[in-house]
Amino acid sequence: MKMSLVASVLYFHFVILSEAFGHTADLEDNTTIVYTPPFHATHVRVGEAHSKPFWGYTAVPSGFLVLLVGVGVAIPVFSWAIYHFVKRQRRKRLRRRFFIQNGGDLLSSPSSRSTVGDQRIRLFEEEEIQAATADYSSDRIIGQGGEGLVFKAMLKNGTVVAIKKALKVNKVSRECFINEIVILSNVEHRNIVRLFGFCLETDHPFLIYEYIPNGDLYDLFHVRREEYLNSWEVRQTILREVGEALKKLHSIPSQDSDGVVLHRDVKLANILMDVNHRTVLADFGFARILGMGDNHVTMPRPFGSVGYMDPQMLQSGRYTEQSDIYSLGIVMAELITGERASTDAHGSLGLGHYFARCVGKRRLFNLIDPRIRTNDNADEIQWFAEVAAACLRQKWLDRPNMVQVVKAMEGDRTPI
Ligand SMILES: Nc1ncnc2c1ncn2[C@@H]1O[C@H](COP(=O)(O)OP(=O)(O)OP(=O)(O)O)[C@@H](O)[C@H]1O
Ligand SMILES: [Mg+2]
Repeated sequence: MKMSLVASVLYFHFVILSEAFGHTADLEDNTTIVYTPPFHATHVRVGEAHSKPFWGYTAVPSGFLVLLVGVGVAIPVFSWAIYHFVKRQRRKRLRRRFFIQNGGDLLSSPSSRSTVGDQRIRLFEEEEIQAATADYSSDRIIGQGGEGLVFKAMLKNGTVVAIKKALKVNKVSRECFINEIVILSNVEHRNIVRLFGFCLETDHPFLIYEYIPNGDLYDLFHVRREEYLNSWEVRQTILREVGEALKKLHSIPSQDSDGVVLHRDVKLANILMDVNHRTVLADFGFARILGMGDNHVTMPRPFGSVGYMDPQMLQSGRYTEQSDIYSLGIVMAELITGERASTDAHGSLGLGHYFARCVGKRRLFNLIDPRIRTNDNADEIQWFAEVAAACLRQKWLDRPNMVQVVKAMEGDRTPI
């Protein structure tokens, strides 16, 4: 459509100009062919190449010629401008439709504390994302979860970023994306992934984050079994930093909540590893800000990742701060034992219950991952295991809060 319009405009232009400037070409034997549109010779004359006016056989008044040239130039330019104007308007309308469909309007509502105006977070254009991901090239894909496909990408200014594209376009998926924008624009912490911006003007929304080069802990720990993770010190640092991130989330000051953000999907696959072993908590799709006076989120259906789900949440249909703490307890158990949260090695008990029982009965020794066990660290591992077991207690009220957990991880041995 575009090409044919361009071709017809150019052709029209050519026709008018050639009408005005029909030109001559000299041949052998003093024969001159006068070219006029459309592209073929209409007059063949002998020996009279310069006997007539330059533009043809009839003398044309110069005012008329100027008018012809003017019209010849103006019409294509005008059609071109109209074509682009209509196209731009149509794209603008489409983008606006997608923006609203993807929940963009919610971001400017007072309850969301206006993230769009946040200086740290900006709106990206689809073209920028397309260019940064080399047109969504499959070799740029670095991760995939239940909700999104993640690309490694480079912005025009050279910044390397991770871009998450929504896999599905349904209500749940849209909510996940809006959630991440609302929550991450209110949080700034060294151990929480940073959001640079988003694009909601496409059918599939996008989120643009800082790029964390070493990938997620599930892959590094359980799949690639990276050697640097065979050190208890490294695992301990990871646990402390995840603890710091959760402590921050559970105490975010805000005007219309008790200051609690629930992550609701704490697991190894959502913990990323930066260079120098900085640990970064990511994936805030299921996170929620608790409202004033609330201490839980009601869950219409069982929810979470296999092996990490709080048993009391499953029973009551309510997700609380202590449900995040239970999932952290599972992460601790994984890093102490080297087993997967989803293991079926312990029958119906699952890793959480079995681990807590062994710690209670002082039968932890055989459960500790042999890759980290040394004569010097037995006492420290035992203490971390006790903290994990406290996080894994069946009842919410029996579990510690994040301030207590972080203190304990820092070495405060007050019983919890
Ligand atoms: N900022 C980032 N830097 C590097 N890799 C990332 C980044 N964000 C995500 N990834 C990779 O992409 C994977 C999927 O990302 P994420 O967990 O955000 O998607 P999801 O679809 O919401 O996942 P889930 O299935 O847990 O809901 C991660 O496990 C990680 O490997
Ligand atoms: Mg994830």
